Amino acid sequence: MALVALELAGRAVLVAGGGPAAARAAASLLDQDADVRVLAEELCEDLAELARTGRVRWTPRPAVAADLDDCWLVVAATGGSLTDRALLAAAAERRRPALAAAGDEPGGGGAREDEAGWGLGSARLLPLEEPSTPSPARSRTGPAGRVVLVGGGPGAEDLITVRGQRWLARADVVVADRLGPTGLLDRLPARVEVVDVGKTPGRHQVSQDEINQVLLDRARAGLTVVRLKGGDPFLFGRGGEEWLACVRAGVAVEVVPGVSSALSVPALAGVPVTHRGTSTGVLVEHGHTELTGAAVRAVVTGEATLVVLMGVANLSRHVATLLAAGADPRTPAALVSDGSTPRQRSVTAPLGRLVAEVESAGLGAPAVVVVGAVVDALAPAAPAGDGSGPGENGA
Ligand SMILES: C[S@@+](CC[C@H](N)C(=O)[O-])C[C@H]1O[C@@H](n2cnc3c(N)ncnc32)[C@H](O)[C@@H]1O
Repeated sequence: MALVALELAGRAVLVAGGGPAAARAAASLLDQDADVRVLAEELCEDLAELARTGRVRWTPRPAVAADLDDCWLVVAATGGSLTDRALLAAAAERRRPALAAAGDEPGGGGAREDEAGWGLGSARLLPLEEPSTPSPARSRTGPAGRVVLVGGGPGAEDLITVRGQRWLARADVVVADRLGPTGLLDRLPARVEVVDVGKTPGRHQVSQDEINQVLLDRARAGLTVVRLKGGDPFLFGRGGEEWLACVRAGVAVEVVPGVSSALSVPALAGVPVTHRGTSTGVLVEHGHTELTGAAVRAVVTGEATLVVLMGVANLSRHVATLLAAGADPRTPAALVSDGSTPRQRSVTAPLGRLVAEVESAGLGAPAVVVVGAVVDALAPAAPAGDGSGPGENGA
């Protein structure tokens, strides 16, 4: 039974102290998915390892009362009863929940509960029971393991979200794709299992059912499984299917939204997908099939921007469809490949010449296609249809 029942997932917890008691508290807090910050001049080996692997954030100085302003819970584990007492008193003043972690010696290191309103003497942090009110962002019905669908952004390692990075630092298993910030995988600790399910030409394609099975098997074994995806998990990422597979199997699952290539890759090439006075909306489609009527209308009327993902193979077919439906061949268009990576390249051209310019520049997948006046919105010096060539640029 839990001594202390607090929902700590994602909460900022301050651990003051760097010794073994602080390390035990930090480990227990991490088990409960707290966001742990450690303040101490020095760390014992266990805590140093947690800091080195990014599982806790360490600031190498003693905690002061002002540090309590930024946290939700305080754990006083400095090993010095006076310091711990001062922290608990400061926490009580701020009406912050606080615990004194048990010292390494019986009675050592912890303040008594009667000395500070919120202190719980030598309480150890124990795993929590199921939260009585499940957070709406998660479905938690299964065993201790979980699946976290993390959107990794378009590829640059610093375009993953802070939350995504935190989950990555806590992962036991990472199930990764070919796109997204794959460079981060090289820096995972050796204990983390990396399962590569990315689609690479000439290699066995891992089916969605097989991917789902990997996620469920590992989570059922009690592991924290990060499903790292390019962009956002729910935009053409099959994240919805993985979510449903977990829910149906009774496995805890949550999603960390990501920076989608649909918006970020055009932005990185200088194209705002909407722009005041130019475009009032944006339509995102995949290019595996014929464009929808809505996409064609958006381009023909010029009312909204069209963004196509996975559209390289069918580019000429899509352009032909748009032109046949009455789109102005001078409509500005762009194709941006390998966005956010050192290989990023882009071609801008009037719609009527886009295919030829992309071919002559030799750009291929992964790429985002943008069609609409926004392509020129930030480049008024190079109006559409001026015949000045492909406008190819390296990133
Ligand atoms: C299966 S979809 C996944 C989209 C992803 N969930 C997202 O939100 O960005 C893959 C497509 O996204 C686009 N894409 C992803 N990363 C890209 C990048 N770095 N540069 C250009 N296009 C990218 C390409 O159109 C690629 O074919």
